[in-house]
Amino acid sequence: MDPNANPFNPGAGTPPPELVGRDPILQQADTVLERIKRGRSERSLLFVGLRGVGKTVLLREVRRCALDKVYLVEMIEAQEEQTIAQLLVPALRRLLLDLDGAKKTLTSVKRGLRVLRSFLGTVKVKAGEVEVTLGVDPEAGRADSGDLESDLKDMLIALGEAARDAERPIALLIDELQYLPKRDLAALIRSLHAVAQEGLPLVLFGAGLPQLFSQVGEAKSYAERLFRFFEIDRLSHADSNEVVRGPVKEEGASVTEDALEEIYKQTKGYPYFLQEWGYRAWNLAPENSIDVEVAREATRLSLRELDHQFFRVRFDRVTPGEREYMRALAELGEGVHRSGEVADLIGKTTNQLGPVRDALIRKGMVYSPAHGDIAFTVPLFDQFMKRTMPMPTKSKRPRRGATTD
Ligand SMILES: Nc1ncnc2c1ncn2[C@@H]1O[C@H](COP(=O)(O)OP(=O)(O)O)[C@@H](O)[C@H]1O
Ligand SMILES: [Mg+2]
Repeated sequence: MDPNANPFNPGAGTPPPELVGRDPILQQADTVLERIKRGRSERSLLFVGLRGVGKTVLLREVRRCALDKVYLVEMIEAQEEQTIAQLLVPALRRLLLDLDGAKKTLTSVKRGLRVLRSFLGTVKVKAGEVEVTLGVDPEAGRADSGDLESDLKDMLIALGEAARDAERPIALLIDELQYLPKRDLAALIRSLHAVAQEGLPLVLFGAGLPQLFSQVGEAKSYAERLFRFFEIDRLSHADSNEVVRGPVKEEGASVTEDALEEIYKQTKGYPYFLQEWGYRAWNLAPENSIDVEVAREATRLSLRELDHQFFRVRFDRVTPGEREYMRALAELGEGVHRSGEVADLIGKTTNQLGPVRDALIRKGMVYSPAHGDIAFTVPLFDQFMKRTMPMPTKSKRPRRGATTD
């Protein structure tokens, strides 16, 4: 069919033609935003799930909803090896300058800018130009202690007060939260908890990989009072069919039940893969309908494409030792496995493999849903590993008792 009319949108954070199966979550987000705007307290939302399930797309929807409600919105993405200050400072600066632009005379806004200046003085952040353009003196005694948690709290409270006085609620949207160092994440959560206790109109929505659950760590009780954790997962069979059928129908074409079956079987209902298969199938269909032959051909092409791009870029980021670990994990099949079993396959102890496992977690390749368990963060990655890497010759099993974890 005409590629120019292709409705599907495979990609990272690219909005789908039809956002299927997430209405209850969006309804919740709407309520949170409305209540915070009215000065009421409400737990915010944290979207947690594997790669490609639609977390970023949900954050974008929240962003749109917040803008409709006349929030000031900043959507930012944490990067590997980045501190909370490096991540936040540019966004805080934009927010305060926006508030300042709207209400030039507000003392709390001016004060917010001075507190940001103090904050900058205590954190190492590449923002040379920021200090200059802030054009204010630091606020003595605020956000200048050098203790991250206390300074961040001062900073966010000052921002919240400025927002309240300027009558512009603020929504801060942070994607890939799992990349924040544990200590920084804890400081952020506790600071936001203080902001919420003051009833200030500043709210954070976040998204990240499943390791977020455990990374929240000792800040857990704060996190639970601050957030509702939403596990974003693959779509149901019916919803998966709708992801493909809906947009095709909208364009005046059709797709057979067999074709939908093939697509669901291959994609297992993961949104990113559904978009990918839909996209290929559309372009391959000679007539106005996607049949099972076309769907099978889409499988062939999609897998080839994923192996060269989506999976490959992740594979290329890891060391040979880390690949060996991932290959062994893949050998165990889909889902969650004991890290002891992986170690058995490699012929080492879990202790020996600890650093490899930790590096893979830091890189966001695998996560540990519970102590001693391990799983891929990318759906269908096990199959890719099997296609790409032959299983190394089987090593001898380690001593008995060496693999308990
Ligand atoms: N609910 C949904 N219905 C249909 N397509 C979706 C849905 N959620 C996500 N997608 C599609 O899946 C892909 C991945 O979405 P993204 O938000 O980047 O996932 P994540 O942030 O969890 O890795 C995008 O192409 C997006 O259009
Ligand atoms: Mg994302």
